Amino acid sequence: MSSLLEPVTIGGKLSLRNRVVMGSMTRNRCVDSYKPGPSQVKHYTDRARDGVGLIVNEGTFVDWTGCDWEYAPFMITKDHAEAWRQVTDAVHKEGGKIFFQAWHAGRVQHDQMPIMKEMKGQVLAPSSIKAEGGKYRDLPGSPGHTENVEEIQEPRTVVETYRRSLVLAKKAGFDGTELLAQGGYLPHQFLNSRANKRTDTYGGSVENRCRFLLDIVDAASEVFGGPEFICVKLCPTDFLNDSMIDFGEMKQTYTYLIKKLVSHKVGIINISRRGADCPGNTGDFYSLFPRPEVYPVPKGYDPVLDFGPFVKYPGSPSMLMANHDYTVEEADRLIKEDKLDLITFGRPFIYNPDVISRIRHGIPFAENDRGNEIFYGPYQTPDEGYNDWPAAAL
Ligand SMILES: Cc1cc2nc3c(=O)[nH]c(=O)nc-3n(C[C@H](O)[C@H](O)[C@H](O)COP(=O)(O)O)c2cc1C
Repeated sequence: MSSLLEPVTIGGKLSLRNRVVMGSMTRNRCVDSYKPGPSQVKHYTDRARDGVGLIVNEGTFVDWTGCDWEYAPFMITKDHAEAWRQVTDAVHKEGGKIFFQAWHAGRVQHDQMPIMKEMKGQVLAPSSIKAEGGKYRDLPGSPGHTENVEEIQEPRTVVETYRRSLVLAKKAGFDGTELLAQGGYLPHQFLNSRANKRTDTYGGSVENRCRFLLDIVDAASEVFGGPEFICVKLCPTDFLNDSMIDFGEMKQTYTYLIKKLVSHKVGIINISRRGADCPGNTGDFYSLFPRPEVYPVPKGYDPVLDFGPFVKYPGSPSMLMANHDYTVEEADRLIKEDKLDLITFGRPFIYNPDVISRIRHGIPFAENDRGNEIFYGPYQTPDEGYNDWPAAAL
């Protein structure tokens, strides 16, 4: 049997029936007031019923932010939590576990988005520096990210915003949280010296730039009853949303950060190799956004293998998870070689409601033969491109 299908227990507390994790994926289908509905219940339940070890729900905003996705969910009110309870209860009934992905877009948003106007949301950032790029399906033209970026006066207040949302997520029945610290979103903006020019204890040195994320980790650990229930998603070689940094800064920042996360005993560190020069095989979706050439990475560089040993050593309290363009064979081999504990599959879970059955029976994953619209729409009903992918005949 594939080693991917062996059970695992995180930090001695959180047991998973196997090592396969469904990655967080924004699908832009929460059409009822920014909450999940019957389509989301079905989507996550189908994958739990097939036996996935852990699901990370789609990125869910902890604050009112006007991001590019009109129908992404929020976790701000009791109403949101009650809607997510339908999902978590259904997943648990199938023997699955589900984490809540906490998302704050920071400067990567626009003050003209309807939700921002309605809720009087602010475009917050470590420093008042606009991210280059960005597009908004909801706004006419290509306005890019807004100029109207406000420097956060007191980062602790935003940590409390996260805490309020995480308390609701816990009440909604989530087993833990994955903190989204890549993609050029708020925690990633604090890490990055191009976006963070603060002169207080949250900017300047590597230690200071990592402080905001570590404060959120501590708040999340308090909410969920221990760091074992916390996953942090990082992409050292990321370039999305103007997040790239030079190689030297990257090495210094992530060496410190990853060691520090392990010393905080977080349950899982999820490292993405997007943007690195590693053997990808299903680059259809991501090849649309190439890495800017002015920020090169050495040929063959793989951040999972480079930073992995800081997480994987005898007696380590943390598990190493990886994502981006892995095949079953590659993930299985890395787990057998003890270079990895868990694997995220993202896109395969879109096209295959039966990822675990396919791994168990050696059936190749189905691929996307329907075009890019299946990711975020448009669609006639939220189930289209979402709940209409067939399982393989066994
Ligand atoms: C349509 C789509 C939406 C995504 N949305 C999110 C998201 O909300 N949060 C996140 O951390 N990653 C998101 N991702 C990235 C995936 O979680 C995953 O890291 C990435 O697709 C690489 O895994 P894969 O090669 O197995 O697809 C998204 C990916 C896709 C394809």
